Amino acid sequence: MEMERGKTIRLLLAMALLVLSSRVIKAEAETSHSEIDRKLKQLNKPAVKTIKSEDGDTIDCVDIYKQPAFDHPALKNHTIQMRPSFEIASNSSNAKNESVSHSILPQTWQRSGSCPEGTIPIRRILRKDLLRATSLENFGRKPPAQPSYAGNITGSPNLHSKSINNTEINFGPQVNRSTAILLTEAYSYVGATGDINIWNPNVESQDEYTTAQIWLKAGPGDNFESVEAGWMVNPRLYGDKRTRLFALWTRDSYKSTGCFDLTCTGFVQTSTAVALGAPIEPLSSEGGQQFQLSFGIFLDPNSGNWWLKISKTVPIGYWPPNLFSLLTHSAKLVEWGGEVYSSKIKKAPHTTTAMGSGEFARNLYGNACYIQNVRIMDYSLMLKYPEWVQTYASEEYCYSAYNYIKGYGTEPVFYFGGPGRKPPYCP
Ligand SMILES: *[C@@H]1O[C@H](CO)[C@@H](O)[C@H](O)[C@H]1NC(C)=O
Ligand SMILES: *[C@@H]1O[C@H](CO)[C@@H](O)[C@H](O)[C@H]1NC(C)=O
Ligand SMILES: *[C@@H]1O[C@H](CO)[C@@H](O)[C@H](O)[C@H]1NC(C)=O
Ligand SMILES: *[C@@H]1O[C@H](CO)[C@@H](O)[C@H](O)[C@H]1NC(C)=O
Ligand SMILES: *[C@@H]1O[C@H](CO)[C@@H](O)[C@H](O)[C@H]1NC(C)=O
Ligand SMILES: *[C@@H]1O[C@H](CO)[C@@H](O)[C@H](O)[C@H]1NC(C)=O
Repeated sequence: MEMERGKTIRLLLAMALLVLSSRVIKAEAETSHSEIDRKLKQLNKPAVKTIKSEDGDTIDCVDIYKQPAFDHPALKNHTIQMRPSFEIASNSSNAKNESVSHSILPQTWQRSGSCPEGTIPIRRILRKDLLRATSLENFGRKPPAQPSYAGNITGSPNLHSKSINNTEINFGPQVNRSTAILLTEAYSYVGATGDINIWNPNVESQDEYTTAQIWLKAGPGDNFESVEAGWMVNPRLYGDKRTRLFALWTRDSYKSTGCFDLTCTGFVQTSTAVALGAPIEPLSSEGGQQFQLSFGIFLDPNSGNWWLKISKTVPIGYWPPNLFSLLTHSAKLVEWGGEVYSSKIKKAPHTTTAMGSGEFARNLYGNACYIQNVRIMDYSLMLKYPEWVQTYASEEYCYSAYNYIKGYGTEPVFYFGGPGRKPPYCP
């Protein structure tokens, strides 16, 4: 009898505990539900018009004055600048590859409609997009960088450093990241451009990404500021493996500020025609026709805004100077090239996520991904090929970098990329 009662009590206790803990779990689920709802409401502004794209995206045309940027505390009284106050003077005496003339900016969604004047197209964020993020706070961010750009390292050069005009630039060792880049340092830069070849490299898993891009940076390696743009395959952020346009900023090496596209407040968009984060087309094919887009980032000398231009004529929008403390007057380091993010970097088996076209840099035009018409702008406000450049590849047997000069008097074309895992080179 006594034993029976003991058993019953224990059973009842266990049941009570079960009910209690399931209530706790349910309550937790409910709060995160409402947190997700709040975040979605904050991200997706009311649409004047909505466009359903064939690629599955929903594009909201949002009143330009009601875009996410204006939720940023530093932009409360911000007066929108509709156009850059300057024309970019290009030094066209430099060699150009005239056979590639596809420098317009076609995006899939544009076939299904266009946004009215006074609105900007914004890729709608869905609940499932937020659920794929490692956390709500991390949604739209690059994972934090390890101390990379230390600049001016005195002492002996090491495995991860490159010397430009007697200045050592230290890149590593990076964790979970592999880069193959062209870089320049020595001046104060107020702009940089490059025509980036467009491909659709393989990405192995959801928590990896691959980019082809330009970086303009300032500050120490453990806390740099950066504005970036290019194309990217990033299934965690976008939910598929398409090649998409991106723009990104940070003021603390991606730790807690800034984000891609308009997934947080900061970037002020002015273009009615181009949606950040939307797929771009057409893609280049091996041995076939090559397509490219011209990416440029310029500091407006009057407003201090960093303008993003894609294609020769289209200003997309800008990052206001209030977002930064060092990038307010100039950038100190410019990089062109690719980055792969994966936890299987410098490990065997290495990730099979590819960079660029998936081919090594020395395979050159039509096979490897290129960036041509590499230009910087200094205080002379002229676009020019940088005086000092270096290439750097953190795993050159997986992803390589090659600044190729075809012949005397011709300008170099930067090739980069690789397949990732490919034994015996990259085991
Ligand atoms: C915006 O303007 C108000 C009133 O002039 C001022 O009190 C506030 O500090 C300003 N905010 C910012 C972020 O500049
Ligand atoms: C254009 O570039 C050439 C050579 O790079 C240089 O000699 C010339 O002065 C430049 N023109 C202008 C207007 O800056
Ligand atoms: C320019 O394009 C042609 C073919 O389209 C190609 O053969 C040539 O190598 C290219 N030049 C450079 C510098 O990329
Ligand atoms: C770079 O090194 C030089 C000489 O060692 C030093 O005078 C200068 O202050 C350093 N600059 C920075 C930014 O650390
Ligand atoms: C390049 O290095 C030389 C010698 O160290 C120095 O005199 C010159 O100012 C440097 N140039 C730039 C642009 O930093
Ligand atoms: C690298 O990736 C692994 C797996 O996602 C993660 O646990 C680790 O924290 C990352 N390391 C750094 C330094 O970001």
